Amino acid sequence: MPAQGGTLSSWDDDPVLTVEHLTMRFGGLVAVNDLSFNVGRGDITALIGPNGAGKTTVFNCVTGFYKPTEGRIVMRHGRNVPESLIASVTNSGEQHHHEDGSGVFLLERMPDFMISRRAKVARTFQNIRLFAGMTVLENLLVAQHNPLMVASNFTIGGLIGLPGYKKSRAESIDKAVYWMEQVRLIDRADDPAGDLPYGAQRRLEIARAMCTDPHLLCLDEPAAGLNPRESAELNELLQFIRQKHGTSILLIEHDMGVVMQISDHIVVLDYGEKISDGDAEFVRNDPKVIAAYLGVEDEEEVEEVLEEDAALAAGKSVGEAPGEDSPERPLGTTQTDVTGDESGPVPKSAELDPIPPAAAASAAALGEPADGPAADAAQTPMAGALSTARDGRPDKLTRISGIGPVNEHKLNAHGIFHFDQIAAWTAEDVKQAESYLAFDGRIAREDWVGQARQLAAGEDTEFSRREDRKTSPRDPNGKGGAK
Ligand SMILES: Nc1ncnc2c1ncn2[C@@H]1O[C@H](COP(=O)(O)OP(=O)(O)O)[C@@H](O)[C@H]1O
Ligand SMILES: [Mg+2]
Repeated sequence: MPAQGGTLSSWDDDPVLTVEHLTMRFGGLVAVNDLSFNVGRGDITALIGPNGAGKTTVFNCVTGFYKPTEGRIVMRHGRNVPESLIASVTNSGEQHHHEDGSGVFLLERMPDFMISRRAKVARTFQNIRLFAGMTVLENLLVAQHNPLMVASNFTIGGLIGLPGYKKSRAESIDKAVYWMEQVRLIDRADDPAGDLPYGAQRRLEIARAMCTDPHLLCLDEPAAGLNPRESAELNELLQFIRQKHGTSILLIEHDMGVVMQISDHIVVLDYGEKISDGDAEFVRNDPKVIAAYLGVEDEEEVEEVLEEDAALAAGKSVGEAPGEDSPERPLGTTQTDVTGDESGPVPKSAELDPIPPAAAASAAALGEPADGPAADAAQTPMAGALSTARDGRPDKLTRISGIGPVNEHKLNAHGIFHFDQIAAWTAEDVKQAESYLAFDGRIAREDWVGQARQLAAGEDTEFSRREDRKTSPRDPNGKGGAK
């Protein structure tokens, strides 16, 4: 579909992956509904949308974990595979066809191991899945078992005696070493994967996927649980993978900062349906996306969104506040989720939507879930809440990375106006704020408290400096009345 201005977008011209009319039903629930999009060759494509929008389900269909209820998923190897060939493979009932470095793979017909080995689609998981008891190196060698087994002719004798085995083994080790270097894990080659810190496990997962030489790398929320520095490193790694290896990347991502920065192309899902499709600029300015997810630019629109939310909140009963018992996704759960189990199509509960659908309708769950737990706020005020800003001069909370205009408004509505108020938050307060904002670990992840401490002390952060330059380069009050 031409996304903008009727011209053909680059990703529609000879894409590496085409998803056509994909539908996935679970009993009565339609998780993905008639979804079509292209993944451009060599692009970083982001699939975004609130919790429960169907993103992981799309991945599970593409990578063969689920068999779609309907639809075709075409993976192409090589440039300019003729449409007629794709049609003839489709009609023949075959799973794939390839010759002379060019190939067509109908993923909806193929089992997952074939998709990984033949169609060359690799993935990582929303909840990390590594062989926790194996070393880093072993994890990377296991990922490459295919060439090893082929070289061994699938026999023990082959494994021991075959010269090809030695060569293949050496190649596998070379490749593992290469990727350990790229993801800065070479020093930990012999440590059990389960002992690595969380961010390192995420990098190892990507290295493992890359050891299979994928044409398409699918990453399910790779930045979740990373601190800002790790998240920036991840961006660099993805750029490197794309530029140096020509790997196309399909990325599910929650952090809009990450998405806007690195994506060539963004597909937005809501309730299993596509609501926007274009480059960052297009999606950022798409009214549907603005209304639903990104927070909004001008005050009037903010008011509109907040009013809608208030109306919605009024329509639902107290106690339905999201986040109340939402799973604490980062670190804790993910660490314990490290497992060698590569099967199991049923997502863990932590992957499921903690927000009731009614709330999710307006929830800007991509960081700014404009939900309406305002009713609850009256019952449990935020710690240190003020009735108004001191001297009527609130600090510009958007100078904290992670706080957009919508959340600033919401924080103000909860009596939070100043950096020092956020700087004083305890872990308990952070949890409470996260439940108000339906944030699911983000405040801690983005270290609002640490940022606020710095800003309250009158220091700048890298982000606030950037933000100040952007908003009012010459205005001495650009710091928004920070004291
Ligand atoms: N195996 C399954 N069985 C039943 N429902 C599922 C299953 N997998 C996903 N769902 C449902 O499909 C919807 C989309 O889920 P998911 O794809 O995980 O969303 P996202 O990744 O965008 O957060 C949710 O309502 C979820 O509960
Ligand atoms: Mg998901």
